[in-house]
Amino acid sequence: MQTLHSAQNLQQAYDPEAFRQIGHQLIDLLADHLERIQQPGDYQLIHYREPEEELAFWQNDFASAPAEPMDFFRKVLDHSTHVHHPHYIGHQISVPAPINALAGMVSDILSNGTGVYDMGMSSNALERVVTDFTAQKIGYDDTASGFLTSGGTLANLTAMLAARSAKAPGQVWQEGHDEKLAIMVSEEAHYCIDRAARILGLGQEGIVKVPVDDQFRIRIDLLERYYEEAQEAGHTVIAIVGCAGSTATGSYDDLEAIADFSKKHDLWFHVDGAHGGAVVFSDKYRSLASGIEKADTVVLDYHKMLMTPALNTALIFRDGYRSYETFQQRAQYLWEAQQSPEWYHSGKRTFECTKLMLSIKVYATLRTYGPQIFADNVERLYDQAKVFASLLEAAPDFELAVSPEANIVNFRYTDLPRESWDLENGNIRQRLIDDGRFYIVQTVIRNQKYLRVAIMNSATGEQHFAALMDRIRSLAKG
Ligand SMILES: Cc1ncc(COP(=O)(O)O)c(C=O)c1O
Repeated sequence: MQTLHSAQNLQQAYDPEAFRQIGHQLIDLLADHLERIQQPGDYQLIHYREPEEELAFWQNDFASAPAEPMDFFRKVLDHSTHVHHPHYIGHQISVPAPINALAGMVSDILSNGTGVYDMGMSSNALERVVTDFTAQKIGYDDTASGFLTSGGTLANLTAMLAARSAKAPGQVWQEGHDEKLAIMVSEEAHYCIDRAARILGLGQEGIVKVPVDDQFRIRIDLLERYYEEAQEAGHTVIAIVGCAGSTATGSYDDLEAIADFSKKHDLWFHVDGAHGGAVVFSDKYRSLASGIEKADTVVLDYHKMLMTPALNTALIFRDGYRSYETFQQRAQYLWEAQQSPEWYHSGKRTFECTKLMLSIKVYATLRTYGPQIFADNVERLYDQAKVFASLLEAAPDFELAVSPEANIVNFRYTDLPRESWDLENGNIRQRLIDDGRFYIVQTVIRNQKYLRVAIMNSATGEQHFAALMDRIRSLAKG
């Protein structure tokens, strides 16, 4: 039998008045946090602790008696990395517009599972609005259709599954496949494409990695040769993936040329635009992804360039009907015919069964600030990368790896003995994290270590880049 105490405890957990009070306090805490972090002065955006120290902190916290939640929320803030700080120029994580947090509160209370229409009427309809808008920006006609899913990795895997359904000989979904299948992709593609191919059972040989040119774009002149070699080795090539843009340098493949190549060989043409596909919203930068409208599928992460918190991704099909052919199993308790194009049953086309109400966040931003907001953000971030690149080019003690096409800039500090550039640039990155006033990352390009920034925050500008360069100079000496 339930004790009085546990019944009261459950009642309290659902108490609207307690929610109201904590909610008001939390909004104040977060608004104060944003105010402080956006005008940071000397405010750190990370207080770095080693993993074991961080774990011990939370183990101790867990061992203590249940406490009022504001104390916990404050601790989480203190122990996190603050992307709204203008010195956050690290990973490709968006700086969420706060309206998303409010939309998230609505969706977390409703918790509509969204996989079937009657468990997500508004979120399924909003998903249609958001993906139709995105499809139109890509340049597709109204036969296109897509859905939202949990991240670029899952969306790329889903696209590769669709490619296999469409292009592999026989009935792969029912019978598996005996043929050796392969996909072609640039050697600079995100590792999730490689992972997707292996999950599909293509194995290492089934991933034909084509070298890149000095701008890190797939070498179009090598496509025929790599295709023929794959065929001679007994592979049936089913797809080619174009990068828009690549993860390390933000480089855009020549999508027009890849479209021609895929048409000639009847391949599925997929564009991984998780990061840089967002240029379709901008008249100024759209030409970088020219040809994207010829792709069979496009992946685009709202949680990278488009002010939305992770994870929130669109997978759009040029021919919308194809999106119902990826997963062909029956789920009679949810819907009757798998392949009938019922856009309103989200789960027919997604990996997920239950799915977060992703559309509500993207829609909230567009509805509140207008559709131009995405273009404004993309243009500001891409423009600022060019500003930073010119500062680096003008400085005798820094070297730029490659002129940025997107908002990703790779560089290194060079006022050091040549043989220690790799080691010291790695040390500089670690010292920056320990210092906590800037957050940047590092990468390896042409087998050499570079510092890497992705300018994700529209508040970041020239004075912050100049301050970063000064900080690096002083840490390099330290
Ligand atoms: C080009 C590209 N594709 C895919 C991904 C993976 O996306 P997600 O982190 O949303 O799974 C990334 C992540 O950085 C990326 O840069």
